[in-house]
Amino acid sequence: MIRLHLRSICGLLAACLLAQSAQAAATLQVLHWWTSPSERKAANALAARAADEGIEWKDAAIPGGAGLGAGKVLKSRVLAGDAPEVSQMIGVSIAEWADLGLLLEIDNVASSGNWNTTLFPTIQTLITHRKHVVAAPVGIHRVNTLFYNRQLFAQLKIAPPQSWEEFEAAAQKLKAAGVVPLAQSSEAWQVAALFENLVLAESGPEFYRQLFVKRDPAAAADKRTAEALQRLRTIKGWANGQIDERSWPDVARQFARREAAMMMMGDWAKPELRDLGMTLDEDFACGVAPGTAKYHLYSVDSFTMFAGDYRHMAAQEKMARLLVSPPVQVEYNTLKGSVPVRRDADPSRMDSCARASWTTFALGAAVQAPSLVHRMATDEASRDAIIAEIQRYFLDDRTTPAEAQRRLGVLFRLFNLRSQGAYGAQDTDRRR
Ligand code: BGC
Repeated sequence: MIRLHLRSICGLLAACLLAQSAQAAATLQVLHWWTSPSERKAANALAARAADEGIEWKDAAIPGGAGLGAGKVLKSRVLAGDAPEVSQMIGVSIAEWADLGLLLEIDNVASSGNWNTTLFPTIQTLITHRKHVVAAPVGIHRVNTLFYNRQLFAQLKIAPPQSWEEFEAAAQKLKAAGVVPLAQSSEAWQVAALFENLVLAESGPEFYRQLFVKRDPAAAADKRTAEALQRLRTIKGWANGQIDERSWPDVARQFARREAAMMMMGDWAKPELRDLGMTLDEDFACGVAPGTAKYHLYSVDSFTMFAGDYRHMAAQEKMARLLVSPPVQVEYNTLKGSVPVRRDADPSRMDSCARASWTTFALGAAVQAPSLVHRMATDEASRDAIIAEIQRYFLDDRTTPAEAQRRLGVLFRLFNLRSQGAYGAQDTDRRR
């Protein structure tokens, strides 16, 4: 009798423990850097879809555009043995983390979803490390986007600038009419984003890669780099001294208040402007950065799963599958301003901005340029150092382009020395 009683208690306990662990497995903490109102909506949509599948999305959002804060928090959490189950992680940093053996390989999910045929090849490469899929991609952002106020342009009879010469002519006209031509922050990543657009416009994707992926000292010394640096300084003048370290949603608000006629920002600003009451193609247009119409300067958002003790594997795999599924891709990307990572997406269902982005990206690697700022081109440490150098040049008018080129050259030599033994984009590429 007593033995029977004990057995049933044990049975109950085991059932409880199982139920408990199933419950724990269904809660996933997700670290990401989507904290602006529109980014929040996109993250909430993913959380809602996860909930439909029985997964609780425990939000761990870290503020800071381009994930500067999130990257640091992630590092310290992992060091403290407190890795989140899911983390936004993009570009070359995926390979850096995967190399440490911390990421869950999701090959089963990828093969059952035929990711190798449904995803764009560039996306497939970004999420693959040593032949294993280690990230679930969600959307492609276009960084070479120029937003302009349609009413201001129409009033002053300005055509959307196709080249930097036209941009300067437009800026002159706007200034003469008392309108600030460009909304621009001096935050390091936002300055560097402008610079990478200028490099792409001066040179095209091949030279761009030579500078930011290969980090070739000869490219740093090239006259195309000098011209891009010179232009960066000229553009600084067009912001009418209104340059301070503002977050990107602040810059978007300045543009929405008609306090500046143009804004160079990734297309994540599109839903933010929508939230601020502006309508695409009526109040504002989403054009392409001057001189880059043929190209796609991209940032691909993706999530990785920390393997830990594999307790959460089932829920993590479910989440990965969900993120890439066609309905979630459509819903999420519409809210986020990015475009689906899938080749079978339907461009006719996209707005003008998304359609131009998706169809350009679909043309393949020859027109694609990996954003340095958004970790697509090189490892985190090199990226941070290059961005800091560009900001230093931007802020200090006494530094000449030649001096900035010399400093970039020194950095590149250092990186290349280091990557002979450890990390670097070349190494990373080779490992893939
Ligand atoms: C990400 C976007 C994000 C933007 C601003 C980029 O690195 O790809 O999803 O909206 O940063 O924080």
